[in-house]
Amino acid sequence: MPAITLTTLQGLKHKGEPITMLTCYDATFAHLASQAGVEVLLVGDSLGMVLQGHDSTLPVSVADMAYHTASTKRGNQGALIVADLPFMACATVEQALANCTTLMQAGAHMVKLEGNAWLADTVRLLTERGIPVCVHMGLTPQSVNLLGGYKVQGREDAQARQLREDALALEHAGAAMILLECVPSALATEVTQAARVPVIGIGAGNATDGQVLVLHDMLGLSLSGRVPRFVKNFMAGQASIAGALQAYVEAVKDRSFPASEHGFNA
Ligand code: KIV
Repeated sequence: MPAITLTTLQGLKHKGEPITMLTCYDATFAHLASQAGVEVLLVGDSLGMVLQGHDSTLPVSVADMAYHTASTKRGNQGALIVADLPFMACATVEQALANCTTLMQAGAHMVKLEGNAWLADTVRLLTERGIPVCVHMGLTPQSVNLLGGYKVQGREDAQARQLREDALALEHAGAAMILLECVPSALATEVTQAARVPVIGIGAGNATDGQVLVLHDMLGLSLSGRVPRFVKNFMAGQASIAGALQAYVEAVKDRSFPASEHGFNA
């Protein structure tokens, strides 16, 4: 397939065609997923949990992210690669600039930052310097200790209003993509309709412009045995990993995934 760019993703949003995204951490899976038609490969700091066996994403370093971004780049067949800024890597704008430079030089086409309106100056600076930014809002796993667990966000009116305002403020600052994790489906729909940039959901209903899952989750691989409600095991009924990836792409594209049981109400 021709290389996916931000313009491609913007075009998909415009056409109403769902964008497919999966986490990816190495060359072999990058090859398989991009060949299956996954448009965006997210080198997520979830690698701290699914590859390294930690109980949160907090121990992941920028060096870890650069290593897995470079590995993903080597196997990629034209997908857009997004790399996560790990915990505290964008605590100041200076750190953000230095760490994003490392990830872009390792092979990322875009970086993802967890946070809300406080990120506006960082997003503006990175964008002005030529680094596209995806902002990760709602349940932000790097703040698990502050949030008191991996909980749905934006259920209360005031929280929902704040999230909508912050998303649009970050878009205004230059964010080229918004990722919403574990928010009520109705709130995700409102943000998707209000935003001009693509909005990708995980546990955010099926009206967003695209979907993402953690690769290991959708392949039915779990260290803890606890499977989040928004996950579907795409290996079920498939003879190969390639088949599962293909089934994921098809289900996102025809909006049969996520079904209502994978989402949350307010
Ligand atoms: O790190 C990650 O895998 C993520 C997804 C949960 C969206 O940020």
